Amino acid sequence: MSRLARKNILDLAVYRPGKPIEEVQRELGLTEVIKLASNENALGPSPAVIGVLKGAVAAVHYYPDGSCYRLREALAGFLGVDPAEIHLGNGSNEIVQQLSLAFLEPGDEAVMPVPSFPRYEPLARMMNAVPREVPLDENYTLDLEAMAAVVNRRTKLVYICNPNNPTGTVVRKPELDRFLEILPEHCLLVLDEAYFEYVEDPAYPNGIDYVRTRPNVVVLRTFSKIYGLAGLRIGYAVARREIVDCLERVREPFNVNSLAQEAALTALRDQDHVAALQALNRTEKTYLYEEFSRLGLDFVPTEANFILFDAGRDEKQIFQQMLRRGVIIRGGFGYPTKLRVTIGTRYQNERFIQALESVLGEDE
Ligand SMILES: Cc1ncc(COP(=O)(O)O)c(C=O)c1O
Repeated sequence: MSRLARKNILDLAVYRPGKPIEEVQRELGLTEVIKLASNENALGPSPAVIGVLKGAVAAVHYYPDGSCYRLREALAGFLGVDPAEIHLGNGSNEIVQQLSLAFLEPGDEAVMPVPSFPRYEPLARMMNAVPREVPLDENYTLDLEAMAAVVNRRTKLVYICNPNNPTGTVVRKPELDRFLEILPEHCLLVLDEAYFEYVEDPAYPNGIDYVRTRPNVVVLRTFSKIYGLAGLRIGYAVARREIVDCLERVREPFNVNSLAQEAALTALRDQDHVAALQALNRTEKTYLYEEFSRLGLDFVPTEANFILFDAGRDEKQIFQQMLRRGVIIRGGFGYPTKLRVTIGTRYQNERFIQALESVLGEDE
C-alpha cells in the first residue's frame, strides 16, 4: 500500500534516535547501562517538577489548555517579550515541522549546515522543498559565508544551529550580525538555540535580541535539555507575532500536553536548578577535556553539554564496543572516526572514560 503514499515521503528515512537504556539492557543482558547519547541533562528535572506532576496527573482526563496561557505569560515575563511572540510546541522538533508546513512551498529552498540537527533536512523534503546542505568549516563551525552564497530568491528558511549539534561550536555575534545584514527579508532565519543555557562564550549572541530588531528571525528553545523535560516533549519559538500567527494556524489544537505545561512552568521558576546544571557542565567538561588529552584523543571544544571527539578508529565499531560495555554514545555524523558524548555526572563520565580506555586498549 506504500504506493498510495506521497512520493517524496517514501524517500524519507525513519529517524533513529539514541538507543534507549532498556533496549540495550534487554539486547545485551546488561544491568547497568549509562546513556550519554541524546544530550539529556545530567541531573534530571528540578525536584519541584516531580512534586507538581504528581498533582497534575489527577487532571489528565481534561484536555490541556491549547493556548498554554499561563506558561506563555510566564515565558514572556522571563524572556522580556510579548506573549503573542511565543509559540509552544511538542518539543522544538515539532516547531521545525511546523515551520516547514507553514512556510515551504514545493521548490522552495531551505539552507542548513551539515552535520547539524538531523531534522531540518527531512522536514524540508517532506514539503517537496529543496534542502541546501552547507558543510561546516575546518573548525567544525557553521560556514556562514558559504551559507550566504547559496541563498537565492527561492530560499525561504535558513537554519543556524547555535550551538551546533553535534560539534558544540557557536556562531559569534559579529558574524551573525554580518550574516543578517546580507540575508534578504524574504528568508526566515531560524536560530535553533536548544543548548542556549549551557553557553559560556561571552560573544555568543542571544537570538531574542534579533527578534526585537528584525521581522524575519525565529528563535527555537527547548525544555528538553537543561530543564530536563525531554520525555514530556515541550519547546518554544520566539518570533514576531505575524510569524507566530502562521505557526498557530498549522498546529494541532492540543499539541502541548497538560503535564508538560505544568512541568515547564515549574522548571522555569527553578533557576537554581539551571545554575546547578551549568556549574556541573562546566566542571565535567574540563574533566573530560583532561581525560581526552590523557588518552591522546582530539576533541572539539564545546559550548554545549556534549563533546565531539575523535576515537581514531571506525566510529561504528567504537559505538558497538562501547555498547557492549554498557555505555551508549552517538556516532553516524559523517565523520569516520568521531563520536559525540553527552557530558554526564562525574560517575557517568568516569564510566565512559573507563569503557573508552578499555576499548582503545583492545586490538582492532
Ligand atoms: C539542535 C537541536 N534542536 C532541536 C532539538 C529538539 O529538541 P526537542 O524536540 O526535544 O525540543 C534537539 C534535540 O536533540 C537539538 O539537538
